[in-house]
Formats: sequence, structure tokens, C-alpha cells
Amino acid sequence: MSTLHVMDHPLIAHKLTIMRDKDTGSKDFRQLLNEIAMLMGYELTRDLPLENVVVETPICKSTQKLISGKKLAIVPILRAGLGMVDGLLSLMPVAKVGHIGMYRDPETHKPVEYYSKMPADIEERIVILVDPMLATGGSASDALTMLKEKYHCKNIKFMCLVACPEGVARVQADHPDVDIYTASMDEKLNEHDYIVPGLGDAGDRIFGTI
Ligand code: PRP
Ligand code: URA
Repeated sequence: MSTLHVMDHPLIAHKLTIMRDKDTGSKDFRQLLNEIAMLMGYELTRDLPLENVVVETPICKSTQKLISGKKLAIVPILRAGLGMVDGLLSLMPVAKVGHIGMYRDPETHKPVEYYSKMPADIEERIVILVDPMLATGGSASDALTMLKEKYHCKNIKFMCLVACPEGVARVQADHPDVDIYTASMDEKLNEHDYIVPGLGDAGDRIFGTI
């Protein structure tokens, strides 16, 4: 079974509360989302492997640590996942970025895939799949299946902002090898499959398309 990491650091909780407020506009919403993505990225990369290197300081030669071999890729699910990319890239500037285009059908609430493009060596990379909202879990689960089956990724983490029990259960059942990182575990889904209390439609709030 995968592990669910709820990152409820006070800075993250404070920023998320401002994002939830319906009166917070797109500019602040985008900025806060990127700030939270950076704070979460710091914790999500805690287990990156290190290797010893010898460095010559102005004083002497010394054995110190650098992140070893494994390369990273950030893969946002369009559109809303784009809102987390810059925050993560500010921590990991040499990571490559892939894209998965997916939207929820308004009637069925099931994900519809419309685009994907990955770095050529994606299968050798540690992949961080990002999307702010984990609602029914359909989009995240299908995106994870695509990363594994079409792009042969073996080492994937999923990072969201707001999750709910239904979405976590779906991803853990379909992808027990993928750890989930979220800033909040919300209560439930409503009759339209929106997260309660949630923050509304993340893509619309990021891009001002409400
Ligand atoms: C939202 C969100 C997720 C999906 C979550 O995207 O960003 O991708 O819904 O719902 P699920 O867990 O039930 O699949 P949306 O379909 O609104 O597309 P958008 O990002 O382009 O607005
Ligand atoms: N997609 C969103 O953007 N928000 C939700 O609450 C559910 C799906």
C-alpha cells in the first residue's frame, strides 16, 4: 500500500486557507499555489539519494554530499497542474517537464485525455505527477496508468494540494506503488464530485476562466 503524506505545516495551512476563500483572485491564488508547491517539494524530495563528493574549501579538502545520479521530471496534469510547476522548478531547476492533458467530462465526471508529451528519457527519471485537486481520483489514476504503460515510468510520486477520502482510496487501490503527498485531506465529495470544503474549480481559479 502506498503512503499518504499530509503536509500540514503551519505555513502551508495558512496559505491554503487564503486560497480557499472565494474572494481570493487569480493573481494571489496562482502565487500561493506556487509557494505551497515549493514548500511541499522540499519535503517530497527528502528521500532523494545522496552521494559523497570531495570538495576543496578555501580551508581544506572535505568529503560532502551531492544528490546522486537520479534525475527528476515534473509532470503536471493540464490545466490546473501547471500552477504548481514553477514552484517546484525553483527548487529543482534542472528537472525536465512533461505534460498530460486531461479534463473531467462535465456529465460523467470521468477524465478525458487529449494530450501528452514527455522528456525522451522519462523512464529513467523520478517522476513527480502534480495536480492540485484529487477528487474522484479518476484523472490522477488514468495519468498514472499512462505514465506506467505508455512511458514505462517506474518511480512516481503524486502531489496534490487538496485530497479527499474517495480520491485517495481510488489512487491507492489502482496504484499501490505510488505515494501521495497532499496539503490537506478534506471531508468528502459533493453531488457534483467537487471536494467539500475544497476551493472550487482549481483550473478556473488559476486562469480566471470562471
Ligand atoms: C480538475 C483537477 C483534476 C481533476 C480532479 O481538472 O485539476 O485534474 O479535475 O478530478 P477527479 O479526481 O475527479 O478526476 P478539470 O477537469 O477541471 O480540468 P482543468 O484543470 O483543465 O480545469
Ligand atoms: N476539480 C476541481 O478543480 N475541484 C474539485 O473540487 C473537483 C475537481
